[in-house]
Amino acid sequence: MDERQKILAVDDAPDNLILLERMLKRQGFDVLKASTGKECLGLSASEHPDLIILDVAMPEMNGFETLKHLRSNEITKDIPVIILTANSKDAKSIEEGFSLGADEYLTKPIDQDELIARVKSILRVVKAEREVEQLKADFQSMLVHDLRSPLSVIIGVLQLGARGEFDKNPDERKEFMKSALETSQRMLGLINDILDVAKLEAGKIQLNKQPNDLNAIVAGAVGRIKLLIREKGINLKIEPSDDIQICECDSGKIDQVVTNLLSNAIKFTPREGEITIRVYCKNFGDARPELKGDYVALDILDSGAGISEEELPLIFDRYRQAKSANGSSRKGTGLGLTIVKRISEAHGGRVFVESSLGKGTKFTVVLPAAGKD
Ligand SMILES: Nc1ncnc2c1ncn2[C@@H]1O[C@H](COP(=O)(O)OP(=O)(O)OP(=O)(O)O)[C@@H](O)[C@H]1O
Ligand SMILES: [Mg+2]
Repeated sequence: MDERQKILAVDDAPDNLILLERMLKRQGFDVLKASTGKECLGLSASEHPDLIILDVAMPEMNGFETLKHLRSNEITKDIPVIILTANSKDAKSIEEGFSLGADEYLTKPIDQDELIARVKSILRVVKAEREVEQLKADFQSMLVHDLRSPLSVIIGVLQLGARGEFDKNPDERKEFMKSALETSQRMLGLINDILDVAKLEAGKIQLNKQPNDLNAIVAGAVGRIKLLIREKGINLKIEPSDDIQICECDSGKIDQVVTNLLSNAIKFTPREGEITIRVYCKNFGDARPELKGDYVALDILDSGAGISEEELPLIFDRYRQAKSANGSSRKGTGLGLTIVKRISEAHGGRVFVESSLGKGTKFTVVLPAAGKD
């Protein structure tokens, strides 16, 4: 368990309660105890345990009534509950428990292994559900922010135009139109990225595979981005391979991979820095049994900010931006590398990264060479 999780055990029989406590504590859980339904409701609301183990047969307020109250209170309604029934043949009680919102049941006498297996499996599911919820919330707030700010720029410009503010100043009009146009294009790029990630994650991307020379794809991408490199005074070295390097790939998608990696290298490398691009053939041999045969490989090295060791494994996650690159003009969303990884993998390839903080970064993409199974 990552952090100590809190379990509330509820039973009117003190012996049972002590037994439960011992079994759970041995597994590293924190244990709270209640001997009545009322006590259970109070502790659930104040302590918000990660899980409740609830005895059904209790005097005054029995387990089912307690469960009903738990589920009808906003604060406690999502806490998972395992009900404890007196015997395994009591199918009616078990059914009633489930219909009232129990997540699992256990029968007395309590079997240690069974108890722990059920507790752990419920906690695992709950954790996974919470992570998905968190991811959704992060995704939505990010999306809203990233789409709203450019849109307000565009609306601002259009409002000025509609009020006739540019009527007497065509130069100013041109300038504002240009900025609105650039902003719209950025927005469209972002929307396309988001759609790409969604499609790639759903495995719904259509690859139009043809034999392509990786050298040619790289040359095309460099051609489009050359101006940016020149503007920043970056020294670009291209080391094409001596032979053509043919891979079966969707050239548009691999162009996207190269462009994303190259634009990162430019973005995170200071002025007058250096970027090297290398295309070659790679055979991993026995070093990586999962990557058998020949691969066409691409290195993009830069002399930029680098990425810290702790952040390195995370940068391919969507919306992840490393702290180490704080100094650079950090425009972007954190989708570029997610797309790079997904596209490479959809082709049966991989992407690797090595980096040294303050010195630079090397990304390597490998794609199965044509003629390979
Ligand atoms: N060449 C690099 N040098 C240093 N850090 C890098 C490099 N490439 C990527 N990173 C780090 O990894 C993070 C994620 O990169 P990614 O391309 O996914 O997002 P982004 O460039 O910030 O935004 P986007 O690509 O969506 O416009 C970056 O924010 C940066 O912190
Ligand atoms: Mg990027």
